[in-house]
Amino acid sequence: MGNCCLKPAKCAHVSSTNFSSGSKKSHIDELKQDSTTSSQKASLGSFNKSFKTSTVDLSVPSSLKSFSFSDLRNATKNFRSETMLGEGGFGCVFKGWLDENTLAPTKPGTGIVVAVKRLKAESFQGHKEWLAEVNYLGQLRHENVVKLIGYCVESENRLLVYEFMPKGSLENHLFRKGDQPITWATRMRIAIDVARGLSFLHGLDAKVIYRDLKASNILLDSDYNAKLSDFGLARDGPTGDNTHVSTKVVGTRGYAAPEYVATGRLTPKSDVYSFGVVLLELLSGRRAMDDERAYFVEETLVDWAKPFLSDPRRVLRIMDTRLGGQYFKKGAQAAAALALQCLHTDPKNRPLMIEVLTALEKLNTSKDAPKTPSPARLDSHWIKRGSSQE
Ligand SMILES: Nc1ncnc2c1ncn2[C@@H]1O[C@H](COP(=O)(O)OP(=O)(O)OP(=O)(O)O)[C@@H](O)[C@H]1O
Ligand SMILES: [Mg+2]
Repeated sequence: MGNCCLKPAKCAHVSSTNFSSGSKKSHIDELKQDSTTSSQKASLGSFNKSFKTSTVDLSVPSSLKSFSFSDLRNATKNFRSETMLGEGGFGCVFKGWLDENTLAPTKPGTGIVVAVKRLKAESFQGHKEWLAEVNYLGQLRHENVVKLIGYCVESENRLLVYEFMPKGSLENHLFRKGDQPITWATRMRIAIDVARGLSFLHGLDAKVIYRDLKASNILLDSDYNAKLSDFGLARDGPTGDNTHVSTKVVGTRGYAAPEYVATGRLTPKSDVYSFGVVLLELLSGRRAMDDERAYFVEETLVDWAKPFLSDPRRVLRIMDTRLGGQYFKKGAQAAAALALQCLHTDPKNRPLMIEVLTALEKLNTSKDAPKTPSPARLDSHWIKRGSSQE
């Protein structure tokens, strides 16, 4: 049985608490143990070995800019509340302005806009997440991975500077009342972008597992192009003859794969499950875990949706009513069938992320019903990989 330290699903609005004990401590203890594997160390050079709290001798990816704390204080108007973009378990995120050539702080409204994430003073243990984020994002460059521009490590302060994503998180668009609902076409484009980002990670030599896929970690640019953010829980996947990596359980309730929660065995298929949950959120407009409801009944979105997903006559009942019926019916059915495959309880029977990407791209290009792969075709393709779906 894995040692379960899952975060509640609506983490953007609460501190990242420990699901099992109510504190963040053991979540962080786990990160101390396992967030840096040997292969990650190999690929990241000497960055990890010499961190100390006050005298810091860091060898970071040279692509990253090292900011002073006062630079970032000036760039964000002294972290004033009016520049705050959001808050998560790690701390608050602020809007800042930098000169595009020198990256020195500039007057608000001039230069380039950035997002500055500041680790909460009281969660200094979050340093390991901060370090994992710098390690991974300092090296990875992909159109569907948010760009890390730099970092600040000064005394107790830990900050990260990212490209600014003007439309914020998918969570805000999908669930916030009063906002214009995002269209079907945009939802499918977002699903493709996320699948492409995960396929990229899984396709790396280190087979990076993202481990914390959820709507709040998917950020959107001005054209709703989606990028993965938050690599604090990411880790290298199994290599050689290993089928999995053993970890204690961290992630977010409602999104984490059941076998990972039960055993702590992590594989890229854990991300595939979480992707299935996000796809369900895109289709239904419902949260992976409705915290108000979960207070009384421990029912996840997956528990609620599965009976509909496996019944072709009832599958469209899961669809978000805010879409007002404005979606391509065959495409929605195929996407729902794909979500069901991703959510298979046996990870061996889930498709690979690259297969998910291919299927979604096909769906998106085939606007005419005859060209769209039917749920049955999607099924038969992936069912070959293992036993039948329950
Ligand atoms: N690069 C960015 N550009 C624009 N807004 C951002 C950026 N990064 C984060 N935000 C905003 O800040 C909010 C908080 O992000 P953060 O990653 O700290 O927390 P979270 O994802 O909501 O929760 P968790 O701590 O569980 O990851 C996001 O929901 C988003 O609205
Ligand atoms: Mg986040």
